[in-house]
Amino acid sequence: MSYPPLESLPATPSAPRFDFSVLGEKLSAHSSILGLMNDLGRAMTIAPHMKMLGGGNPAAVPELQLLVRARMRELMAEGDAFDRMLANYEPPQGNPRFLRALADLLQRTFGWNVGPQNIAITCGGQSAYFYLFNLLAGRFADGRHRKILLPLAPEYIGYADQGLEEDLFAACRPTITWPQGEDARVFKYAINFAAVEEVLEREDIGAIACSRPSNPTGNVITDAEVTRLSAMATARGIPLILDHAYGAPFPGVIFVPAQPHWASHVILTLSLSKLGLPGTRTGIVIAPESIASAIASLTAIVGLANNTLGQQLMLPWVEDGRILELGPKILRPFYEAKSHAAAQWGQEYFDAAGVNWALHASEGAFFHWLWLRDLRITTRELYERLKAREVLTVPGEYFFYGLAEDWPHRHECLRVNFSGPAQTVRAGLQIIAEEAAKVRR
Ligand SMILES: Cc1ncc(COP(=O)(O)O)c(C=O)c1O
Repeated sequence: MSYPPLESLPATPSAPRFDFSVLGEKLSAHSSILGLMNDLGRAMTIAPHMKMLGGGNPAAVPELQLLVRARMRELMAEGDAFDRMLANYEPPQGNPRFLRALADLLQRTFGWNVGPQNIAITCGGQSAYFYLFNLLAGRFADGRHRKILLPLAPEYIGYADQGLEEDLFAACRPTITWPQGEDARVFKYAINFAAVEEVLEREDIGAIACSRPSNPTGNVITDAEVTRLSAMATARGIPLILDHAYGAPFPGVIFVPAQPHWASHVILTLSLSKLGLPGTRTGIVIAPESIASAIASLTAIVGLANNTLGQQLMLPWVEDGRILELGPKILRPFYEAKSHAAAQWGQEYFDAAGVNWALHASEGAFFHWLWLRDLRITTRELYERLKAREVLTVPGEYFFYGLAEDWPHRHECLRVNFSGPAQTVRAGLQIIAEEAAKVRR
């Protein structure tokens, strides 16, 4: 899958080029996530004039930044711990004290039967997914070719190119529901369980995976949907992977009641990124023991050990449980207010422009999923037009990989990150409305 980059670095004509293996060609090709991260990274560094409504960068949340800075000072004052943090490699599975503290926290808070042996740290959730998907899907020794089932497309763009082998995903179209009636212009995707059953019958599935809250839509699949997926996975003897990068128990950027779910066949992933620490690259996998130790083996091969800064920064807050308060007390109110404000500006501008729009229910994460129902062009084309006006978004097409058939809906959705400064988001939405009005049917 390719994603148009913001700008390409000029190639030096005389620079030597070498042949790459098949795998090398695949992994170094222009992937959608590379394009997205280039857009994001450049807008954050060398192109700050761009209105960044693209990528998934967390906002600068002042209250949290103050806490983290104070904790960093504390860590440095500890001297010895600080020196050890920087001077030593840690076991590939993660810092033993951090693993113990997190297992204890999960046990006493949720009653889950997890110990340190059930947890593995990775270099961000992104690496965790690369490991998990390639462990559980692809070609097997007995000749089977297993896939990852995504029960609800659209799904996170970052998974799309992670398969070392081709054709790693089988995704299902959801049912579109209108919880307050269609006139309210708020829709919600619901898992189409008949479609999930059909894929389970048709394909050899190695795991079921879903982000909750969803990137790109902000959907939170309900507790009942999770329970049903979990039962389907158990019945097939496969894991259910739940990506809580934005969810519970932390960072807790989730606006509706939802219980975190874990069982002996569930792989739950967390990350410190959306808590505000993407620079520490800390992913957390809570999983059956065999999976956690396989992740540690992969970490050793790929990178020896993980970055320990995030674990050391958060350690006392995991030990005393304060990490669970950051979402409800700081992050949720912050992002929920941003979501409401952006929804209001969107409504104002889209209505004024006469655009036929709808918004996915904003139940968590940092994104609005905008459905532009009478677009004459694809959202990839719309993305280009917006970029020309210095507004970066992410076209919806990239999130619909793994579907057996095309679906016109996939050309009508745009992901908009609402977490940036108010004036940026507001100005960006106004330009989106103007451009959408120009190209409506
Ligand atoms: C749903 C989801 N999963 C995983 C990740 C990976 O994040 P990180 O590698 O920073 O933990 C992201 C990042 O945007 C995400 O949105």
